[in-house]
Amino acid sequence: MVLMFSLQAIAQEDLKSTYSHYVDKQGNITLPQDYRRNWTFLGSYQVKSSNGKGWDTHNVYIQPEAVKAFRENGKFPDGAVLVKDVNSTQSEPLTTGLAYYSSDLQFTFMMVKDAEGRFPKNEAWAEGWGWALFKPGIAKSETENWKGSGLNNCFGCHLPAKNNDWVYTQGYQQVLQK
Ligand code: HEC
Repeated sequence: MVLMFSLQAIAQEDLKSTYSHYVDKQGNITLPQDYRRNWTFLGSYQVKSSNGKGWDTHNVYIQPEAVKAFRENGKFPDGAVLVKDVNSTQSEPLTTGLAYYSSDLQFTFMMVKDAEGRFPKNEAWAEGWGWALFKPGIAKSETENWKGSGLNNCFGCHLPAKNNDWVYTQGYQQVLQK
């Protein structure tokens, strides 16, 4: 019983540490290092490439503690971090059939849950989230305004999911459901 209690305390501490590890005092967002190995894989989307040829594979990760809280409360807790890698896709005939799998990383998106409205003056923060975009190998976000242009128009592209806390959870049901 004592052990369970302290494990829970550690889990909560991990989500709190989002704001010391990945976000500075001004609200600048840094990409976590080990999410592909150590976090929970939420799911993937296969999306037609913007040049119309082939597919991209979007792989999405979140902290295990945030999944636990979502299963309990049905919403993403303060400090939850969603990371989405956009990868090219390789294909190859295998014994299962024509197989597709992730290859080169193109770029990475990240959303940081902020239930407290911490950065009212920083335009990369809005509607309960911090919004960030990273080029491969660069941990500093490219996003100055979540209503920017191109890939930085987070707002425009996430608007259809507004009533779902801006997140496209339909691809992650197998992990998020109770
Ligand atoms: C071209 C439209 C588009 C743009 C621009 C865009 N998103 Fe998304 N995003 C989506 C869609 C649609 C999904 C879910 C399906 C998919 O991956 O295609 C998604 C998924 C995500 C996910 C995984 C969680 C989820 O909602 O499913 C994160 C994190 C994310 N986006 C962050 C961002 C951030 C941050 C920005 C701005 C810097 C941004 N996105 C810009 C369309 C977009």
